[in-house]
Amino acid sequence: EIHQNEYLLNGEMVQWNGPVNEVWSPVCIPGAEGLQRKLVGTYPDTSPKEAMEALDAALAAYNNGMGEWPAMSVEKRIGCMQNFVYLMIKQRSLVIKLLMWEIGKSLADSTKEFDRTVDYINATIDALKELDRESSRFQEAEGTIAQTRRLPLGVVLSMGPFNYPLNEIFTTLIPALIMGNTILFKLPKHGILAHYPLLEAFKEAFPKGAVNTLYGKGSEIIPPLMESGKINVLAFIGSSKVANGLKKQHPKVNRLRAILSLDAKNAAIVTNNADLDVAVSECIAGSLSFNGQRCTALKLIFVQEGVADEFVKKLSDAVSALKPGLPWDKDVKITPLPEADKPAYLKECIDDAVAKGAKVMNEGGGYMNASFVFPAVVYPVDDSMKLYHEEQFGPVVPVVRFKSIEEPIDYQINASHGMQVSIFSNDPAEVASLIDPFVNLVSRVNINCQAQRGPDVFPFTGRKDSAEGTLSVFDALRSFSIRSLVAAKVTDANKE
Ligand code: G3H
Repeated sequence: EIHQNEYLLNGEMVQWNGPVNEVWSPVCIPGAEGLQRKLVGTYPDTSPKEAMEALDAALAAYNNGMGEWPAMSVEKRIGCMQNFVYLMIKQRSLVIKLLMWEIGKSLADSTKEFDRTVDYINATIDALKELDRESSRFQEAEGTIAQTRRLPLGVVLSMGPFNYPLNEIFTTLIPALIMGNTILFKLPKHGILAHYPLLEAFKEAFPKGAVNTLYGKGSEIIPPLMESGKINVLAFIGSSKVANGLKKQHPKVNRLRAILSLDAKNAAIVTNNADLDVAVSECIAGSLSFNGQRCTALKLIFVQEGVADEFVKKLSDAVSALKPGLPWDKDVKITPLPEADKPAYLKECIDDAVAKGAKVMNEGGGYMNASFVFPAVVYPVDDSMKLYHEEQFGPVVPVVRFKSIEEPIDYQINASHGMQVSIFSNDPAEVASLIDPFVNLVSRVNINCQAQRGPDVFPFTGRKDSAEGTLSVFDALRSFSIRSLVAAKVTDANKE
């Protein structure tokens, strides 16, 4: 067990003797009353007072762009970040272990999450070198010469979800930080202790006040921060409902930049011309990696009627063969779920579909206990069912049978979200005819492969309620900065 009794504020690890919150693992162990969740540890349940202290520290460290961190040269900021990576890597095995215990992510996926995050930081460092060369050039036009500078925006509030507690938060925190902003880092509810080993690295690597942590309940500590009007950027990954609520708390929303990655319910479209084996294996990876708890997961599979029965049979057999187990078990594919209320919610969704005429097609589909759900392939799903509309973020694979290709296009036109689609067809003319309609409705069209965010250097965004701003590497550096000019008239004296 890890009992965290300190947090990072203004360059210090501040001791905490107040109330704490418990972290319970989705991994259950046998106890007196049957299977029980295991206690992983505790963390400080800080109050709005500590949150406002963190804001004061971030504001002082920023000091209108004249603080030590924002005013530091790009080379020196890169040096600090390289030192952070060096210190972070030393904590690799402990962070991976905590990810497995806290969010139930498999060893392979937890390892990937850590290593991918290190690669992302290194790619960000390289991108900043290039961006700095591009941004600091001189430009001359109409007798005026100007030097462009790419500058930070101020205080960034960075918040992320449980499914990638390390990687997703760092895809906003790291570019925001390296651009010279100062950070308020709201730790995720699940995966919170996985960050504890990294706090020393932040403290060592960056000047005081550059990174400040926020613990406690989001519903209590975030409103006073937003209402202060002193947050310059909201970097949030989660639901559009929460994001809109947060933005409304800011008294001058036009002064707030929002970088948001939000709702999705990505469709796969399997046409009569698809290679069904490819479609099955990619749809399984797309819909069930990390138990379907990914914003990029395939959440609705449209299959054309000529191949529907064969596809559903192959899909169901392959899903039944997935290995359930604990995060550290060899070759495990399905693991326990961190959200305590998720099994009951998924049961409600499956029951609703079954009551309206669909069936669970695979052996063992929908089996559940307190923290575990074996994936269910549900078919045929239609628009009267919850599974057609709700993102559900869990191991359920709803399959819709369609006749005309207009049906999945209409689904996407009418959807409130627009993140990704995957098209499965071996007919080049058919694929070509589908790219244009979809690329205008979602921000990534995948051909004969699953939906996903990576490679992380690719732009990552969405349309409608799926995103605001763009993440990745170059785009994120731009998102967390602004270009200002120093301009002068060209005269004989300054021509040289
Ligand atoms: O939850 C959304 C994540 O950004 C998904 O990332 O596609 O790499 O798993 P991924």
